[in-house]
Amino acid sequence: MIRSRIIGSGSFLPENKVLNNDLVKFMDTSDEWIFQRSGIRSRYYADKSQATSDLGLIASQRALENAGVKKEEIDLILCATISPDHEFPGTGCFLQAKLGLSGIPAIDVRQQCSSFIYAIAQADAFIRMGMYKKILVTACEIQSKALDFSTAGRDVTVLFGDGAGSVVIEAVDVKDPTKERCILSSHLHADGSFAKELWLQAPGSAYQERMTQAMMNNTEDHPKMNGKLVFVHAVKRMPEAIQEALNFNNLKISDIDLFLFHQANIRINEATAKVLGIPEEKIFNTIERFGNTTSATIPLGIDTAVKEGKLKPGMLVASAAFGSGFTWASSIYRW
Ligand code: COA
Repeated sequence: MIRSRIIGSGSFLPENKVLNNDLVKFMDTSDEWIFQRSGIRSRYYADKSQATSDLGLIASQRALENAGVKKEEIDLILCATISPDHEFPGTGCFLQAKLGLSGIPAIDVRQQCSSFIYAIAQADAFIRMGMYKKILVTACEIQSKALDFSTAGRDVTVLFGDGAGSVVIEAVDVKDPTKERCILSSHLHADGSFAKELWLQAPGSAYQERMTQAMMNNTEDHPKMNGKLVFVHAVKRMPEAIQEALNFNNLKISDIDLFLFHQANIRINEATAKVLGIPEEKIFNTIERFGNTTSATIPLGIDTAVKEGKLKPGMLVASAAFGSGFTWASSIYRW
């Protein structure tokens, strides 16, 4: 039967490493507060000259090289981002042009922190239906250019960083998907009634004028978050999503070799682990070093885990994410 498998990964972090103490110069915060509340020590910011697709380009090239796939073999680009180069066209189109792949389709995936899992679910479905054979999934983000660096924006700003991660997914003929290297399943959810609890409201067509000076004066062009509410929902939905994927595949926590969660707050991942009884050594977190790179956290985590020898061929991996929308999702795949 035709299934899809991830055959390579790549990632990119900009050069500018920003420590918690560097943020103290702009806002009333401290290394202690940020680390205790979120587990973050540092994050990376893109150069002002870089666009989101520039980060995605490097991660994509590295993933193609790692997979041993020539760019001309790619049938489709799925580009996950909430920090697009421009409002339109999609960042996938800019990425496609920079890769020199004119002609193939490029789809943007806009499900915020859950985007990467939404994207691999789409790649998996396209491959299972026989429409495409090799798909590049790239998640790339420049959050630093949208953040409010005054004290008023500190609750959001200290959490986010820039970066990109990419994987190459190909069609594979398998006899037993439970034992061979492939994506077993993905599970996607959203609840738009919470859309305004974590959002970047302007510019937007919902207003009589899509962008005004008043909106900028109100800092509506910076992301806003009801942090406590997001936290409460995240610690409920993340374990639910993992349990759903385990049940669907008749698996138990002990069958999973590595958990690669979204990186929003170390406390969310610790709470998820506690609810599900996941031993600490089975979880790979990058938040301390990279912060929350939104859609890029999971592929960045995959590539980092591979490079650091934590993710090895044959391992069964479970990923889950929660984010703005609200959206949440999970996936189980054999590496
Ligand atoms: N530095 C110092 N103090 C800060 C601060 C910062 N960066 N951000 C907020 N504070 C202050 C608040 O103003 C508040 O002060 P007050 O008590 O005088 O009003 C105090 O710290 C406590 O704030 P609170 O919001 O209660 O903290 P918290 O324990 O809920 O932690 C978050 C805040 C944002 C870390 C936490 O709510 C969280 O992680 N939420 C989920 C975020 C998330 O996952 N987002 C992405 C989803 S993809």
